[in-house]
Amino acid sequence: MNTILTNSINKLIRHELLTHGEFVALLQGNSEDLRKTLAYEADQVRRKYFGNRVYIRGLIEFTNYCKNDCLYCGIRYSNSNAERYRLTEDEILLCCEQGHALGFRTFVLQGGEDPYFTDERMTKIVAKIHHLYPDCAITLSLGERSKESYQALYEAGAERYLLRHETATKAHYDQLHPSSMSFEHRMQCLQDLKDIGYQVGCGFMVGSPFQTIEMLANDLLFIQEFRPHMVGIGPFISHTDTPFRENKNGTLEDTLLLLSILRLMQPTLLLPATTALGTIAFNGREQGILAGANVVMPNLSPVSVRKQYSLYDNKICTGEESAQCINCLAGRMNGIDYEIVVDRGDAISSNCISLCD
Ligand code: 5AD
Repeated sequence: MNTILTNSINKLIRHELLTHGEFVALLQGNSEDLRKTLAYEADQVRRKYFGNRVYIRGLIEFTNYCKNDCLYCGIRYSNSNAERYRLTEDEILLCCEQGHALGFRTFVLQGGEDPYFTDERMTKIVAKIHHLYPDCAITLSLGERSKESYQALYEAGAERYLLRHETATKAHYDQLHPSSMSFEHRMQCLQDLKDIGYQVGCGFMVGSPFQTIEMLANDLLFIQEFRPHMVGIGPFISHTDTPFRENKNGTLEDTLLLLSILRLMQPTLLLPATTALGTIAFNGREQGILAGANVVMPNLSPVSVRKQYSLYDNKICTGEESAQCINCLAGRMNGIDYEIVVDRGDAISSNCISLCD
């Protein structure tokens, strides 16, 4: 093993800050050996803060209308093959009711950027959920909005927001998105969310078109500096109705390595084993947990619309990844010596970290 790789591993294991070159060395050094070493270390540090607990989030995909035209995404505006749907307020509340009975204490409302869901409509929905389920956390994933909008949603009761940055390299951002979208605005949104007081999640696709190891190192540097509470990563998976239909998918191996790196960079990070990971590989989500992830987000959307929230081809949505199969999921997690818990699963504050240390 070369010196820079050995040094980078040692720094990562000590949770020290890494340079761009050191991240590159880790990514270039991806091998079964390296993945095993880092997964072992990631597991140790995760157990220190979380034990064997895996948090669950009930994912409600409430609209697949989207005004954006991201080149990788199956629900992009110009995909006229997408069958569009949006849930009513009552349908969303029914998902929450079922989810609560199943043991979910976090609801993630995720949707395309659908202008129908104005601040007025959205704050009303958030306030209702907050009122009906005061023991639950509400996470939103609604894309880019104004700071005023984020503020109003926060005041209505949403405490967490997921907005993947997609890539921390501006030129790459422009290759993945139409000219109507901008890297600067994306980053501004993330900063606004943090300034308001949300627990914030960013993230990126692994193996997205044009992505290089240097770009992935930029993503890690950005995360190291931004210190989000959550990071969502999953492999890029091509969708037939997008311009990237011929592009190669991201790999399980790269995603697992990155999960371990992220866990070691930020030991208390909320890190989901995503649906995309479960889609590209058998037991992908279990493998993600073993590599350092500590969150799973089963689908709580009505079964009738699940197939329509098609961000990429063959997305799993009706099997054991669905919320209704929570017992199967619990069994799978027990099988790898983890347990899912009935808990909001909040980010651990930095105060606690110094106390725990
Ligand atoms: N493959 C994998 N992930 C995708 N996303 C969108 N399209 C794809 C795809 N083809 C991810 C994006 C987005 C999140 C909701 O889903 O990163 O932020």
